[in-house]
Amino acid sequence: MNRLQWTDALSVGVEQIDNQHKQWIAHFNAAVDAIAAQLGTDHIIKDLGFLVDYTSTHFAAEEGYMAAAKYPALPEHLAKHQELRDTLADLVRDFEEEGATEPLSAAVGTFLGNWLTTHILEVDAKFGAYAKEHGIVIAD
Ligand SMILES: [Fe+2]
Ligand SMILES: [Fe+2]
Repeated sequence: MNRLQWTDALSVGVEQIDNQHKQWIAHFNAAVDAIAAQLGTDHIIKDLGFLVDYTSTHFAAEEGYMAAAKYPALPEHLAKHQELRDTLADLVRDFEEEGATEPLSAAVGTFLGNWLTTHILEVDAKFGAYAKEHGIVIAD
């Protein structure tokens, strides 16, 4: 399965966001590990639930930083976050209904993993560049 590894290449240049992404990846990896070890549907759903919860926490924080910074691309960013919230909710529901099938397990490792990485590198990184360009200091 495709665990993710946080490296400096994933840094968006905002410490709070980087730290949250590290946590996010750890939750993602926990779900991937549970699936790879075939720990059972209940266990996998519990780990996916932690990932869903942390995703909400992180998105809310990130959206707050962006709003405070008057980030002009916030509406598009919000839409991307909502897309992932919906996708995650669908995935959890599918696991609940179908159990840890091969295609569902693969969807976590590939589709979801790619989504997280791409979002950090291509979408969150744009906010990091904006914050840097405008000298915005993110307050906790
Ligand atoms: Fe984001
Ligand atoms: Fe993010």
